[in-house]
Amino acid sequence: MDKLVVRGGKPLVGDLHVSGSKNTALPLMAIGLLTDGPVTIHHIPDLKDITTFRKVIEVTGTTVTGDASDHTLVINAAGLNRPEAPYELVKRMRASFYMLGALLGKTGQARVSLPGGCAWGPRPVDLHIEGMKALGAEVELDAGYVVARAKGGRLSGGRVSFEPSSVGATINVLLGAVLAKGESVLENAAIEPDVVECCQMLRSMGARIEGIGTRTLFVQGVDRLDPVTYTNCPDRIELGTFMIAAAISGIPGKPVTIHHANPEHLGTSFLESFERTGAGVLIKGSQIQVTAPEELRPVSIRTDVYPGFPTDLQAQWTVLLAKAVGNSKVHESIYPDRFKHIPELHRMGVNAIIVGDEVVIEGGKRIQGTSVMSTDLRASVSLVLAGMIAEGETHVLRVYHLDRGYERVEEKLAGAGIDIERVRYDEWADPD
Ligand code: UD1
Repeated sequence: MDKLVVRGGKPLVGDLHVSGSKNTALPLMAIGLLTDGPVTIHHIPDLKDITTFRKVIEVTGTTVTGDASDHTLVINAAGLNRPEAPYELVKRMRASFYMLGALLGKTGQARVSLPGGCAWGPRPVDLHIEGMKALGAEVELDAGYVVARAKGGRLSGGRVSFEPSSVGATINVLLGAVLAKGESVLENAAIEPDVVECCQMLRSMGARIEGIGTRTLFVQGVDRLDPVTYTNCPDRIELGTFMIAAAISGIPGKPVTIHHANPEHLGTSFLESFERTGAGVLIKGSQIQVTAPEELRPVSIRTDVYPGFPTDLQAQWTVLLAKAVGNSKVHESIYPDRFKHIPELHRMGVNAIIVGDEVVIEGGKRIQGTSVMSTDLRASVSLVLAGMIAEGETHVLRVYHLDRGYERVEEKLAGAGIDIERVRYDEWADPD
C-alpha cells in the first residue's frame, strides 16, 4: 500500500493547478451512453474513480477509448447490449448507480447493483428508485440488484419531487427523462454545478430541458440525442482544498496562485466564510490568488446544499479551524456522521470534540505529526493539510482513498514548496 509522508512547516508558495471535476466527469461519462455515436469529453481527471466508472461502462458493451492521462475519453455506446452494472464494480464507487438512469433511458431496462454501505454512515438511494418509478419504470429488488424495466420499452416521463435535495438522484432521473416519451417535471431538483453541467451537456446533444440552475427542471423527452464534444469543468472541491491549503500554510502577504479555477462553483457561503478568516482572495478570470493572513480568525460553518457550504470541504475546513486561534463549530447538516477524520486529528493534538452533528474546535493548539489513517476521500486530504502545519512528520496511511479524487496531489503540493512524498509500506508489518 502507499502512504504520504509530509514533513510539516514548509510554506506553500507559487502556483497550483486544478484538475477537471471528478463529481462532474462521472455523470458526463454516463451521458455518453445516451447516444449511438462517439461522445468526446475533455478535461477528465486521471483518477481511480474514473478508471472504475470506465470499467462499469465497458461492461455494457460500450467502448471507451482514450487514455485518462491525456484527460480525454471517447465513449461510443453503439454496441451497448448488456444493460447491467455488477456489484464488484458498483461496490467500489457509489456513483456507478448513475447507470440506472442512463441504461433505463437508453434501453428501457437496467440491472444495477445496490451500492451498499459508505464510510460515513447511511447513504440511501430511495429517491433514485422512486424517481425511476415516477418516470414509468417497474422496479424490483433481486438479490442485491435493482432490476428496472420501462413499461412498453421506453420511459414515459412523469413528475418527481426530491426530498431532501439530492445531486445524485436529480442527475439519475435526468438521465432517464431526456429520452422518455413524454414530459417530466423535477421538483426540488439539486442546483449544484454538477447538475447544471449535466444539463448543459445534454442540451448540446439535443435534449430539451428548461429551468437549468433552478429548483424546477422541465424536460421534454426526445427520440434521440446526438454525439457531442464537451469540456468538463474544473473541480470545485480541489479548488476549495487548495484555497484552504494556501490560507493555512502560505506565507502571509505572499499570494499563492491557483489556476483553472471556477470560484462561482464553490457557492457564496464558502467564499464568504473564507474571506472572514482574514485570508486574501483576488479573482482574475480563471485564476485565484489566495494570501494567508498573519493570523487566521476562527469562522464557524454549517454545511448545506449549494450555494451553501459544501459538505465535501467540511473536513478540510476543520483543519483550518484547528490552526485559527479561538473557538469555533462545524455543523454537518448533509451527512450527520461525516466525522471520521476527527479521531485521527485528535492523534495529532487537535482539540476537537464531536457533539451530535457538530464538532466544537479549540484552535491554535500545538499540532504534532504522527501516523494517521485515511478513512475516506475528503478525510484523507484533511490529514495531509494537517500534516502541512504540524511539527515533524505525518504519515497518512491508506492513501488509496485520496487517489480516488485528487489527481497527483503530492506532485502538485511538492511543486508548490510542500515537503511531501509517496512511500510504499506494509500495513501489517510489526513495529521495529
Ligand atoms: C454527491 C457527491 C458527494 C457529496 C454529495 C453532497 C458525487 C459522486 N458525490 O453525492 O461527494 O458529498 O453529493 O454534496 O457527486 N439522500 C436520500 N435518498 C437518496 C439520495 C440521497 O435520502 O436516494 C440524501 C443523502 O443521504 C444526503 C442528501 O440526500 O443526506 C444529499 O445526498 P446527495 O446529494 O444525493 O449526494 P450524492 O449525490 O450521493
